[in-house]
Amino acid sequence: MNILLTGGLGYIGSHLALGLLKKQNVNLTIVDNLSNSKLSVKNKIRFISSKNFKFKKLDLKNKNSLQKLFKKGKFDLVFHLAGSKSVKESQIDPKKYYENNILGAINLLNSMIECNVKDIIFSSTATVYGSKKINCYSENFSREPVNTYGLTKKIIEDLLIDLDRKKKIKSVILRYFNPAGCHASGLLGENPEGTPNNLYPYIIKIIKGDLDFLKVFGNNYKTKDGTGARDYIHIQDLVDAHLNCIQFVKKKSGIFNIGTGKPYTVLDIINSFQKHCNFKINYNFYPRREGDIDIYYNKISKAKKILGWSAKRGLKEISQSTFKFAIKSK
Ligand code: UD1
Repeated sequence: MNILLTGGLGYIGSHLALGLLKKQNVNLTIVDNLSNSKLSVKNKIRFISSKNFKFKKLDLKNKNSLQKLFKKGKFDLVFHLAGSKSVKESQIDPKKYYENNILGAINLLNSMIECNVKDIIFSSTATVYGSKKINCYSENFSREPVNTYGLTKKIIEDLLIDLDRKKKIKSVILRYFNPAGCHASGLLGENPEGTPNNLYPYIIKIIKGDLDFLKVFGNNYKTKDGTGARDYIHIQDLVDAHLNCIQFVKKKSGIFNIGTGKPYTVLDIINSFQKHCNFKINYNFYPRREGDIDIYYNKISKAKKILGWSAKRGLKEISQSTFKFAIKSK
């Protein structure tokens, strides 16, 4: 099976590439524009998997290169993970998000239609729901994103739903909760340049010794200890969810939340590093971060029932793999 993976050198993409390369009869092509990833990840994927794959540096905004790639590639299936993903940046520079995410997706889908590629698995986000009164999100909740990042994902979802209705392309839309954790080898993980916005990349910098303490945003949320609670999904479980979609999308389209169903607070995460890695994370309380909500997590029943998928790993595996990656990348 010829598979195209966009954004394949990124945090999620690189782990998915390894999952795909483990499968029999997969001929993998990765494209990435390297805007939020490093070329060295390509060699790490080769090293860990001992498998070969094609790689092309390509920006999905470049329609002509994309068309050429599709003419040669004879793809059977596309995993579309490429996109800009910072909520904060999307509020500062919305045009970048419309261009990278929406224009990129339109070019990709046009190439698929021109070359008769029928199936796509799309990386969406629980951010499409916006902030709800009920904290346990299920797939039939209305989508009311409160930032441009979430809005661009919603628009791509709508496009995919329309293309399915028109019988042009079948799609599986995966709405991720909070991906976390790293590859068991300690060679791959999320390690952005500069000061990270998200919790785990920030903790990685603390373990590496680049930052001294964690700023815990808010201690008066309506949660058990006052700090924000999220549904952290281990990257390997997320990869397994994608792999389970390969057979499914051949038959039909679907939309699935991908999370564990269990919320953990920021203090739970801090304590998990003490408990499972014997590492103390120093922290101080800071005011709430703008736009944050108390708690949200997944109602897991749909993916379990239909895809036969549920998360197998928990905070122990997340903290231990994160710790290993941070130490190795010192
Ligand atoms: C954010 C994005 C979401 C994206 C996800 C990636 C928003 C509104 N949503 O979710 O679209 O998919 O990241 O994982 O931004 N925290 C601290 N200190 C820090 C960083 C975070 O206390 O330095 C707290 C936050 O207040 C929150 C929790 O940790 O309670 C998780 O934050 P974060 O990792 O940024 O994820 P989300 O905000 O849930």
